[in-house]
Amino acid sequence: MSIYTGYLAVHKFEHELEKELEIKGLKISHKRDRLYLVEGHHPAMIWAQMTAWDLEMIAIQSINDGAKKLKALGRNWGLFTVGNHRRAQLIQDELPKINTKPIAFRHPLPQAPMGFWTLWEADVIMASTKTSSPFALGEMNFLEDKLTPPSRAYLKLWEFFTVYAPEEIKGGRAIDVGSCPGGWTWVLRTLNFDHTISVDKAPIEKRIMDLGQIEFRQESAFGLDPNNFDTIDWFCSDIICYPERLLNLVKRFRDSGKVKNFVCTIKYQAETDWENTLKFLEIPDSKIVHLHHNKHEVTWFLKGVEK
Ligand SMILES: C[S@@+](CC[C@H](N)C(=O)[O-])C[C@H]1O[C@@H](n2cnc3c(N)ncnc32)[C@H](O)[C@@H]1O
Repeated sequence: MSIYTGYLAVHKFEHELEKELEIKGLKISHKRDRLYLVEGHHPAMIWAQMTAWDLEMIAIQSINDGAKKLKALGRNWGLFTVGNHRRAQLIQDELPKINTKPIAFRHPLPQAPMGFWTLWEADVIMASTKTSSPFALGEMNFLEDKLTPPSRAYLKLWEFFTVYAPEEIKGGRAIDVGSCPGGWTWVLRTLNFDHTISVDKAPIEKRIMDLGQIEFRQESAFGLDPNNFDTIDWFCSDIICYPERLLNLVKRFRDSGKVKNFVCTIKYQAETDWENTLKFLEIPDSKIVHLHHNKHEVTWFLKGVEK
């Protein structure tokens, strides 16, 4: 019997996932709604909000039987329906409740495995207990701060520092380029850095500056010379620019040996720039993810650069 890897495409970015699978030489065996099945065991994809490995087909006799069979495999199940919506929901209702409460910034991630299932046919469940996220369908939500940050862009950095870089920050220096109106600078200021440098051509909001310990430079990030900086613990970029321009800036700072960690948003125009996205991935040990809070953009990061 075939085993499948299931990819749930990010809503409205099915085309990106299809292109990514094509670039990786993976053939789509089945597609229903935004769920893609590929035969065999394959890595997670950037444009899949959840990847599920070793998906099993399970024949069921009834709603009750479906719930019983899923419960025998695991406790937590995220449902994505591709048809038979009502019947699928009735099965889900018989499963233990899953915790979908929003979490706080830097809250430890749930440790329990999160399964993925769908009602493939009225009498066939497709399920996996091995998934890429501890959150149902890979969807995570924060207890938002609706008062302080000047834009919602801060949620990307919250997600990044909660999921991908949860390690304790013990002082040091962070630089935020393309920082205005100041959401990311605010997040960095709330972390334990000794010093935050914030760079943008536009002015930063005064109330962010009023937090103190922020050095704001109103200039183009592309004119920055790494030689004029001491060691930087985190280089953060949310600049709106062509991916190629960001890539050159990142390479300049990386080659300087001054930066330990990077997190940068790669933003796209109408088309996803695969050529430069793949060039980012050529930087050793770096990764690209599509955060739950990313739109038509992805997050490139590189941690623990050795000098
Ligand atoms: C999406 S916004 C950043 C939002 C910010 N991360 C926040 O949380 O509030 C992109 C920023 O890139 C800035 N930008 C564009 N070109 C730039 C350049 N050459 N140098 C510095 N900043 C630039 C824009 O002025 C804009 O403020």
